[in-house]
Amino acid sequence: MAFSDQFLDELRGRAGLVDIIGRKVKLTRKGREHQGLCPFHKEKTPSFTVNEEKGFYHCFGCQSHGSVFDFLMETEGLSFPEAVERLAGEAGMEVPTDTPQERERQKQRQTLLDVTEMAAAMFEKTLRMPEGKPALEYLYDRGLDDETISRFRLGFAPAGRNRLKTALAREGVDEGLSVAAGLLIQPERDHRDERDGGREPYDRFRGRVMFPIWDRRGRVIAFGGRILGDGEPKYLNSPETPLFHKGANLYGLHLASPAARKADTIIVTEGYMDVIALARAGISHGVAPLGTALTEDQVQILWKIIREPILCFDGDAAGQRAAAKAAERSLQHLKPGYGLRFAQLPSGEDPDTLITRQGVGAMHDILATALPLSEVLWQNESGGRIPSSAEARAALQARLDEHTRRIQDPTVRSHFSRLFSERLWPKAAGDEAGTRSGGNWKRKSAKDRGWTPNMHVGTGKSALRSPIEDDEIFLLAVIIYHPSSFDEIGERLGTMSFSAPDLDKIRQEVLKTLADNPGLETGALATHLIERDYGGPLGRIRELKSDPIVGPNASQEIALSEWNGRFRKLRNWELAKEIEEAKRANQANPSEAGRERLEILRDQKLALSEEEANGHVFR
Ligand code: UTP
Ligand code: MN
Repeated sequence: MAFSDQFLDELRGRAGLVDIIGRKVKLTRKGREHQGLCPFHKEKTPSFTVNEEKGFYHCFGCQSHGSVFDFLMETEGLSFPEAVERLAGEAGMEVPTDTPQERERQKQRQTLLDVTEMAAAMFEKTLRMPEGKPALEYLYDRGLDDETISRFRLGFAPAGRNRLKTALAREGVDEGLSVAAGLLIQPERDHRDERDGGREPYDRFRGRVMFPIWDRRGRVIAFGGRILGDGEPKYLNSPETPLFHKGANLYGLHLASPAARKADTIIVTEGYMDVIALARAGISHGVAPLGTALTEDQVQILWKIIREPILCFDGDAAGQRAAAKAAERSLQHLKPGYGLRFAQLPSGEDPDTLITRQGVGAMHDILATALPLSEVLWQNESGGRIPSSAEARAALQARLDEHTRRIQDPTVRSHFSRLFSERLWPKAAGDEAGTRSGGNWKRKSAKDRGWTPNMHVGTGKSALRSPIEDDEIFLLAVIIYHPSSFDEIGERLGTMSFSAPDLDKIRQEVLKTLADNPGLETGALATHLIERDYGGPLGRIRELKSDPIVGPNASQEIALSEWNGRFRKLRNWELAKEIEEAKRANQANPSEAGRERLEILRDQKLALSEEEANGHVFR
């Protein structure tokens, strides 16, 4: 039996070499490949490699080599057609039978591909002709350059009902094929009127900027057409055709996947223009669904390329709903090592507008702080807060359980469930670290020596501004990425006054917010800060997002230990300055109050060096 290349290709894509081989061989990831002990000969050190990208396995020990089909044939003793059938069954694909009808369908697909390719070339050409000028100007206005325009093969469909139709006919394309390819609309025949022989087909896309849509192999299978400027509908897409299935393709996939493998990440946006804007800004690993919500099929396709794709949907209510929907839909398919991350755009922005308005740096910040799926579910259900009453906690737990139950993989399910319940019902005894260090702070605190939050005298500007600011940003990053450290460091942070006014404002806002909302989490805190226009300083703090000491993935203990060190450094420096000032003031104008103030400051400095000498409790 002969299978078409197209079918085998699709099947290879869906089956996933690593998954299939991983059932028999324990594989570990090594760069772009996976490695394990060869199943075809006896060995103690792994020389068997699997390369998902290239679609084959290879053993450097025994030279066995092959595709996913070969693997099944070798290990299960199947014939080629049996291997194909087995995989198709698992992937939920129907095996096309080698009938004359099927051959006919194959031929038709090929012919349809020729037609869509012809149309793409015609649209591209028209964009560069005088009548395409407004469209070209439109694209330039939106920040695209010629290179990007040709990379995405953007074009223009001229206004008029018969332009493409005539052009294709001139090339000898059968009208029925142009209709089947979705390029012409065949008006419905009026069945009440026997004499109605059907009206003439006409161009589907008229006066629109054309975005070709490709399959995985980069062949044009459909189009999206955008109106120039405002108007409805904004985008018009090809209908479902034998070539085009909206839910099983992603815009830009063939351009994005090599870049994604290189960058080890892939970004899913909502719109065509977002993918293009990312590419224009040097981020070539963006894709988008095709005018529908992200489907389960699309998530599976993404997982074949990258284990944790980042969804970066519009920062509006619709975008957030779409993200939540994608999160819920993918739950049942989760398996160990695979997940989704969610990047949170400021409200009213999509990746395109964000890059245009704030630059690609802002985009990178947002991608770097993308939250994992478990976190997004938690945020959505809890609003980032642990309710104070047991009843409300139980209700929240029930809502979270509902999501957790949908996860089919037992390992992932128990991981989610443990994560949620540990958050909801923190062990009182396990809270030791907090009390221990809290105790330490109280003991070491100079509170009883007169050091209360409001008596601190501001330091004003300093010559050492920039290293100090670095430390200040660090202090803020710890509390933002580890908000539960508030109990521990909130009081000390409250005594400070930061040199940069914008940093000092955000310091106050963070303290106030955490004091009012115990248990608030990073995501909710960041959203709160962005909403109150602290996006600017927050951006600087986010630069520490992947810092191994302070970042969200760092251990809180280490972050706190470093926090205390930097706090002492800053505080010491402040105190030294204040002591100098107090001395000078007292010399110029001696008074009892002045001497007392100097005394207190010296005590504080002493307490601080004592603490330093004793080593902090965390070390
Ligand atoms: P958006 O309206 O967010 O599109 O719709 P966009 O890419 O940001 O467009 P610009 O920047 O205004 O040009 C997201 C996606 O939804 C589909 C398209 O796939 C679009 O890219 N869509 C949107 C439609 O299919 N039809 C529409 O009328 C609108
Ligand atoms: Mn847009």
